[in-house]
Amino acid sequence: MVIPDSCCIVIFGASGDLTYRKLIPAFFNLYLYQQLPSEFSILGVGRSEYSDQSYREKLRLALLEEKVEDPSQLERFLDHVFYQAMDTAGVADYAKLKQRLDELHASLPTALRNTLYYLATPPSLYRVIPANLAAHGLNREDDGWKRLIIEKPYGYDLASSRELDKETHLHFQEQQLYRIDHYLGKETVQNLLVFRFSNGMFEPLWNRNFIDYVEITGAEFLGVEQRGGYYDGAGAVRDMLQNHLLQVLAMVTMEPPATIDADSTRDEVAKVLHSLQPLSDSDLAKHLVLGQYTASSFQGQQLPGYREEPGVADESRTETYVGLKMFVNNWRWSEVPFYVRTGKRLPTRVSEVVIHFKRTPHPVFGQNAPENKLIIRIQPDEGILISFGLKEPGAGFNAKQVSMDFRYGEMEETRMLSAYERLLLDALNGDATLFARSDAVEACWKFVQPILDFKQQEGALYGYACGTWGPKEADELLFNDNRQWRFPCKNLTNTEYCEL
Ligand code: BG6
Repeated sequence: MVIPDSCCIVIFGASGDLTYRKLIPAFFNLYLYQQLPSEFSILGVGRSEYSDQSYREKLRLALLEEKVEDPSQLERFLDHVFYQAMDTAGVADYAKLKQRLDELHASLPTALRNTLYYLATPPSLYRVIPANLAAHGLNREDDGWKRLIIEKPYGYDLASSRELDKETHLHFQEQQLYRIDHYLGKETVQNLLVFRFSNGMFEPLWNRNFIDYVEITGAEFLGVEQRGGYYDGAGAVRDMLQNHLLQVLAMVTMEPPATIDADSTRDEVAKVLHSLQPLSDSDLAKHLVLGQYTASSFQGQQLPGYREEPGVADESRTETYVGLKMFVNNWRWSEVPFYVRTGKRLPTRVSEVVIHFKRTPHPVFGQNAPENKLIIRIQPDEGILISFGLKEPGAGFNAKQVSMDFRYGEMEETRMLSAYERLLLDALNGDATLFARSDAVEACWKFVQPILDFKQQEGALYGYACGTWGPKEADELLFNDNRQWRFPCKNLTNTEYCEL
């Protein structure tokens, strides 16, 4: 285990939901498990007027609400936390920040001013904060490293993401930038690399000769909750497809990197994302389904439609579901369809990849030949299930579909780091392998831009009742190819009594 250097961590957006619910609990867990340096400071920055003491009290309550392990350690952890009230949009106030950082660095046992900045602010500040930091020399690395973590959404479309990138690069070098996609912090997403590239038996099959098609699902039961204001301007394509699902697809399809380091791995990710087959008008007409959830009663609960959610426009045409058939145009994957879907208010929360292998060339045991499927479950009930055919005991030679599985829950002795813990630790250690590089982000926007244009021109949007698997048109995407989506249950192995 590598312990990061002593450093200051500056969180912009210190009184936001992300800070309270994800970042501070992740730092606290890293502290509990002794993965932070013995000397570090966390400086919360925001407009609200808090003293160090009153901010610590806010965090203490937030951490208790998150039901963190071992609350007896809270006070000791919070001694490392400080607060600076300032106007982050105005350049003048950065003098205050600089002075505060001078004091905090002086209290650490190193002459180096190592600093991690985290932008947990509204995206409108992503262009402003790096420029303001640079105006006060707070980006300079001659006295220690300076790293900048930027939350999604990184841009709003292809043009704005390019613009943001250009401006950010005026003040920070690419190797100082850590664009976070929390899916890459998930143990099961990283496992895609280990599973593929550490096992000799799967890799030879991992191509167009043996794989028939692939499904990638990111389903959620929850609706937009209190985030209607943000979501209505984003939609499922920007919120989930452009980043999380395309990153998962890249992990499934990329070539093996020469070594697992930031450059080699991200070279391969970028390469495969550049190979996504551009969506033509006819693809948009035939292979894309956008949907929006409508009110319905599900498991005895009356659920509101998307347009009734707080912060959502009455006539909103924002999609809460996207289903897409797409292709990766390269030697390995040519003509293999990837069916990708994500949506809110689907029957359950589940993310998984299903690899469907081709059937045997000749059905010796009858037409009902078993399917060979590999299900890689990202969440919940994290694990892997492989299904294949076996002789049904008794007379004759009937093949029966059976399965074998591995579940992470069975590895009790290991604690799984949350996605944010893993990514924060990597950023503190200067390892950018699991962060999206500029060229990969641009490739993702380039791929989804035709969908954004299609939405803009009021392309078709289908309704689906809350608690269903999306519009029926999405089922047709596969029916038309004589296939069907897998309808996953919460429990990886349970298919008969589907607990949702
Ligand atoms: C976020 C999206 O990035 O990912 C949310 O903004 C979504 O809308 C969430 O709910 C899903 O993450 P997870 O880890 O719960 O699958």
